[in-house]
Amino acid sequence: MTVNVIGNPLPRVDGHAKVTGSARYAADFNQPGQAYAVIVSATVGLGRITGIDAKAVQQMPGVIAVISHLNAPRLAYRPHKAGVDPAVGERLHVLQDDRVRFYGEPVAVVVAETFDQAERAAAALRVTYTAERPIVDPSDPKSQPIVAEATLRPEAFVHADTSRGEADRVLAGATIKVDTTYDIARENHNPMEPHATVAAWKGDRLTLWSKSQYVVNERAEIAAVFGVPVENVQVICPFIGGAFGTSLRTWPHVTLAALAAMQTKRPVKLVLTRKQMFFTTGHRPRTVQRVALSVTPDGKLTSLIHEGAGETSRYEQFIEALTSATGHMYSCPNARTRYRLLPFDTGTSVFMRGPGEASGIFALECALDDLSYAVGIDPIELRRRNEPRIDEGENKPFSSRSLMKCYEAGAERFGWSRRNPKPRSMRDGRLLIGMGVASATYPAWQSPASARVRLLASGVAEVEAAASDMGPGTYTSMTQVAAETLGLPMDQVRFSLGRSDFPPTPSHGGSWTMASVGSAIRAACIAVQEMVAARAIADQRSPLFGASLDGVEWNEGRLRRRGDTSAGQPYRDIVARAGRPIEADASTQRDPEVAGRYSMHAFGAVFAEVAIDPDVGTIRVRRALGTYGAGRIVNPRLAKSQCTGGMIGGIGMALMERTALDLRDGRPVNAHMADYLMPVNLDIPELDAHFVDEVDPHVNPLGVKGLGEIALVGMAPAIANAVFHATGKRVRNLPIRIEDVLTA
Ligand code: MOS
Repeated sequence: MTVNVIGNPLPRVDGHAKVTGSARYAADFNQPGQAYAVIVSATVGLGRITGIDAKAVQQMPGVIAVISHLNAPRLAYRPHKAGVDPAVGERLHVLQDDRVRFYGEPVAVVVAETFDQAERAAAALRVTYTAERPIVDPSDPKSQPIVAEATLRPEAFVHADTSRGEADRVLAGATIKVDTTYDIARENHNPMEPHATVAAWKGDRLTLWSKSQYVVNERAEIAAVFGVPVENVQVICPFIGGAFGTSLRTWPHVTLAALAAMQTKRPVKLVLTRKQMFFTTGHRPRTVQRVALSVTPDGKLTSLIHEGAGETSRYEQFIEALTSATGHMYSCPNARTRYRLLPFDTGTSVFMRGPGEASGIFALECALDDLSYAVGIDPIELRRRNEPRIDEGENKPFSSRSLMKCYEAGAERFGWSRRNPKPRSMRDGRLLIGMGVASATYPAWQSPASARVRLLASGVAEVEAAASDMGPGTYTSMTQVAAETLGLPMDQVRFSLGRSDFPPTPSHGGSWTMASVGSAIRAACIAVQEMVAARAIADQRSPLFGASLDGVEWNEGRLRRRGDTSAGQPYRDIVARAGRPIEADASTQRDPEVAGRYSMHAFGAVFAEVAIDPDVGTIRVRRALGTYGAGRIVNPRLAKSQCTGGMIGGIGMALMERTALDLRDGRPVNAHMADYLMPVNLDIPELDAHFVDEVDPHVNPLGVKGLGEIALVGMAPAIANAVFHATGKRVRNLPIRIEDVLTA
């Protein structure tokens, strides 16, 4: 009967290619006659370039070109906006003028015969500037929050202001309340694979082998930047070594690679240094927030206020869902949110795993934890008493919501009942032990997507979609969807992605790939089956001749009449008779009527246990568990890997990651892996991820909600709440540092 591959913990179809090194990442591609480009980055934080001494460098061995605003062509920069671009503002126009807008802005690109020669020449290039002091910190008296224009649009995913009831008045009159502020550091994505682009022009046609979560947009954007037709650009990206959002946008280095190739008439390879990945490829914005809550003595929320602001650049208004989830998390008659931006002299921020929610939920869930102590109710019980029946912010039912199921399953699995509720009461020898919990949520998006399926006479099905796979296992999960829908074994499905000339898909982000691309592949598989069946029905030589379309069953690569117990006719016979492959394209999107009717989100409950040395303040996460209600789980093995990976990101956010800026010039002072701390194996304890059964008939035909982002949301507050439970000290800044727990 059915192959039934969806739901099976299958290994990665690309696992062999990855471990044997045959998987090729952007910088692994090479072209004949290739030259190497290295970017020269501004060493002031704000100002103007007064001189570039290219002459000396041009004499250096191997140097082919030194390109700066002094000799770069004016690029077309036709208007172009992708869904991932800030709606308001204009992208950085690279090497087009003498201004320096932020520390690290590219001011020149040096092209040479070898990488070493290019690197040496770039280091030798003397650039002089006039410099002013940039504004890069919320504490700067000149920093002023602004309303992001896009948040005033009704369809925005985060609103400048929302309100129900009278939150401020109720809070003022309440006796049991908390009113708290939070400061979360800027983070950089720091995937293992650096940004890299190989650019090759043939006449006015350009091919880019480039690290991208959105090849379709990279093609369109580079075409707009250079003023060439979209069809003239091809972007290829078969593998990504982690990205977490940093490759959603097409950053200036892609333009520089293409520009260098154009100017030198050579294919050019450009790879960013680790340091440069702190300059122009986005970051999770620094945020400052306030959450105020009040409750009745029996733990019913009476007011909820959540205000937050995040940094953006001067030239673009980057927005994220910092306060969006607050409206639907808990039942509360009086609730108000406010979201603002802090424009700084810095590169534009970008989405980073769990964008918005990871930061906003940290504040909300820490405040709820505070409130649980203030009112004397167990934190899980407090959430149960405020579990809403509907999304009170949107005034809509949830398509499904398993938050309490997650808490129940998680509490049982984690052993929450062993927790002594009193702070600083649990010990293991001299170590202070703390157990904390927090909710997680992320929207279950679905975006318009398309896919193609081609059935070959060999019995193989080729499936194509532009898409990307930055690590969640998209190659595998999409192969599963196609195999199950076509009734074929996994090894007879060949799924290809990462080419901009494949059927277009949305960005590989927002946790919507499974829902969006998966739905398109499913639809294309159904469409191609109908084409094959229609041919068989019309073919006098087929045992299916004259059957109705509804009367044909499709299984394990064969067709037969419904109810027929014979093996049926292999589809490849029909393809062979057709004399050429049979191919179908399909495009899907969420039914707008259903989308308007329901509030669609994944939910989770995250548990953490920490051990803190009271004398030296070291904090270790000893174990953690994430329980998630995320709809249908296509591949439990990959899903668990996704979630534990996200939880590790949450440990980094909670305890380590911070891009520190020198306030004098905006320079990231720890722009390297020695000082930008991230969890390594020794920091990662036993991690467990668990999925509660959840059937959601509304989200999409596959019933999937997506998993990438939610896995990072909830982890940092669970850890912060565990730190409070262990020590009695509430830390409201991230990352939590040793000195935070050592000082009173
Ligand atoms: Mo995800 S932050 O949309 O790559």
